[in-house]
Amino acid sequence: MRSNESDAQPKKVVTVPDLIGYKLQDRRIVMVTAYDYSAALIADRAGVDAILVGDSLGMMVLGHKNVLPVTLDDIIHHTRAVTAAARRALVVADLPFGAYQAGAQDALRSAVRLMKEAGARSVKMEGGAQIADAIELVTKSGIPVVGHLGLTPQSVHKFGGHKLQATTEAEASALVRDALAVEQAGAWAIVLEMVPAAAAMAVSRELSIPTIGIGAGPWCDGQVQVWHDLLALPPGRDFHHVKQYANLGDIAIDALKTYADEVRDGKFPTEEHSS
Ligand code: KIV
Repeated sequence: MRSNESDAQPKKVVTVPDLIGYKLQDRRIVMVTAYDYSAALIADRAGVDAILVGDSLGMMVLGHKNVLPVTLDDIIHHTRAVTAAARRALVVADLPFGAYQAGAQDALRSAVRLMKEAGARSVKMEGGAQIADAIELVTKSGIPVVGHLGLTPQSVHKFGGHKLQATTEAEASALVRDALAVEQAGAWAIVLEMVPAAAAMAVSRELSIPTIGIGAGPWCDGQVQVWHDLLALPPGRDFHHVKQYANLGDIAIDALKTYADEVRDGKFPTEEHSS
């Protein structure tokens, strides 16, 4: 089926209860990040279940060194573009650093903005037991929350870099405890980032809500990947936990070089491109 033909099909909107139900059906959740209208359109047409407007936006789109400078207004701006495109996929928006660390009321205020001003259908928050009260208040207010444990990039300086987490037995047990606290607080899923596969498996078995892994091995209930990493945009970023499904960065460079050559050589535009 060509992509424009699949567009003509009626879309069943993916909901939070659908995705929770996948775990019982032993069906994997597919999530990918997107930060703009055209990427979200492509992800939605490809049939992913959920699109994450992650604060990785800071590095992938805004040119920051880490996620810390990303603001709530940045996430709202980009989430609006994504929700304008996503007809089927569930759009989850990140609460960025500084938008919920002051406490539960702060988290609720920020989460409400993401739902009301940007059209997100769920939010994501980093942290375990220490933010359980915030997760509880946000979920009790009717806003579905995805938790995020393991390598939580908003704490990059505490970890001393983007490093594998939960590598000792004690840390792996603490990961399970935090995951249970996040589940009990009302989160509907938990992202597990950069933890050993065995630790992710232990968490996935312990919880009744789905885990969504990134760099966390094959036994999570779903996977999330960063758009730019899957498609090699730009080329040259090559991580152990990523599989590049296309090399669009190199394709784009070649295409733009050809365009530049053709303009310089007077081969484009021709009469064919003239009105
Ligand atoms: O911001 C992001 O893209 C994320 C994913 C890596 C899970 O949090």
